[in-house]
Amino acid sequence: MKVLVIGPGGREHAIVRSLQADPYVTEVHAAPGNAGIAQDVPVHAVDAQDPGAVVELARGLEAGLVVVGPEAPLAAGVSDALREAGFPVFGPSRAAAQLEASKAFAKEVMAEAGVPTAMARVAADTAEAADALDSFGAPYVVKDDGLAAGKGVVVTEDRAEALAHAEACFAAGGTVVVEEFLDGPEVSLFVISDGTHAVPLAPAQDFKRIFDGDEGPNTGGMGAYTPLEWLPEGFVDEVVERVALPTIREMAHRGTPFVGVLYCGLALTRRGVRVIEFNARFGDPETQPVLARLKTPLGRLLLAAATGGLDDADQLAWRPETAVGVVLASAGYPDAPRKGDVVSGLDEAAALDGVSVLHAGTAADADGRIVTAGGRVLAVVGLGPDLRAARATAYDGVARISWDGAQYRRDIAQKAAEGGIAVPDPSRGRHAADAGRPAAAPLGASQGGSADASAENETEVR
Ligand code: AMP
Ligand code: GLY
Repeated sequence: MKVLVIGPGGREHAIVRSLQADPYVTEVHAAPGNAGIAQDVPVHAVDAQDPGAVVELARGLEAGLVVVGPEAPLAAGVSDALREAGFPVFGPSRAAAQLEASKAFAKEVMAEAGVPTAMARVAADTAEAADALDSFGAPYVVKDDGLAAGKGVVVTEDRAEALAHAEACFAAGGTVVVEEFLDGPEVSLFVISDGTHAVPLAPAQDFKRIFDGDEGPNTGGMGAYTPLEWLPEGFVDEVVERVALPTIREMAHRGTPFVGVLYCGLALTRRGVRVIEFNARFGDPETQPVLARLKTPLGRLLLAAATGGLDDADQLAWRPETAVGVVLASAGYPDAPRKGDVVSGLDEAAALDGVSVLHAGTAADADGRIVTAGGRVLAVVGLGPDLRAARATAYDGVARISWDGAQYRRDIAQKAAEGGIAVPDPSRGRHAADAGRPAAAPLGASQGGSADASAENETEVR
């Protein structure tokens, strides 16, 4: 099978690497890719958001599967055009991708499907926003309703700042969603669907803020690790049953089946699990460590999803190691990323045992040197027998790489490695993390116990 991967980022580089490792996949191509992807597979300078151009490329390559990575081509209807032209596509239609492209739409689907999420109100002007802010109280959460690459959300104690963000969104012609604040650790769970069935990947945790200690503005994500040893037993099953499957059924019921990855962004609150957001694609950078552990051949899995061939009982196989991914970003990210800084040390980092270097915003200059070409430039993934070892390996790789103004967080997965993450467990009135249970519970397998967590978990969308 020949596979075409659409997108320019680190997520796509990780997908390309995993596809190359699948014996069923004969050839991998990417468009537009980046300088790192171009070192691994042929890349094609096609606009990923131009449905006609992508179809033409897929025809020319006689692709047996097209994997659409980022949200923008999904929202532009690239999957629809490919499907109409007869290609198996991994990635939802434009209509189904609304689960990510419109936060208000996602809230409506969750309400209909009975999926637990934060209480929220849509506001279209300053008075409505102010009213919603006061009804929920501080900390305030204001989200741009449209696509904003993870940067459209402001969470703040400062009412004036919250209102200013809403007003900026209105000035740009948009609406906002004002939400109740969810506290508790966050988890990203990717669920693969063929429109009917749900197959979960291993849960990961992402680090959204730019600076150590979760300080500074939100970014697309500065690092991630997997698996999450501190999760309660049965967590993955619970999310599949209470979040993913009801959403997938609701989308099918609406005549817009969801085929691709339903990215469930979750908060583990005192009152149980809540959806923070849905995305309609693999997360970036979570995909880099998640796929580093996946043993199941990726091409076959994504083809099964694209062609309606999944089963709810499908179990994926995982390497026993832990994976930690650290993002290196350019000077000025997230506000004004600087381009053109020369990157050094890539080969030394990649030569280390257990390290892989995945490119995102990179380009080759006229002399063939790798230079920064975007906000998030690279992800360095380290694999190790446990979190401490995987962190040490990843940061060993990071230490070899440099450019002028490079930024990265020093504390990716640190709290978890030090045993510092506690999950409020509403059904048992104690912290699940205190149970000291072994980490290697089979993911996605029925683990019994807490799946029926709590009667308090009623949907709260209003
Ligand atoms: P989103 O784009 O919806 O994923 O939001 C980006 C980030 O903002 C999330 O990963 C959270 O860290 C934070 N966030 C979003 N919604 C909430 C909420 N209701 N309560 C607390 N934090 C939130
Ligand atoms: N890492 C967050 C996202 O992909 O949206």
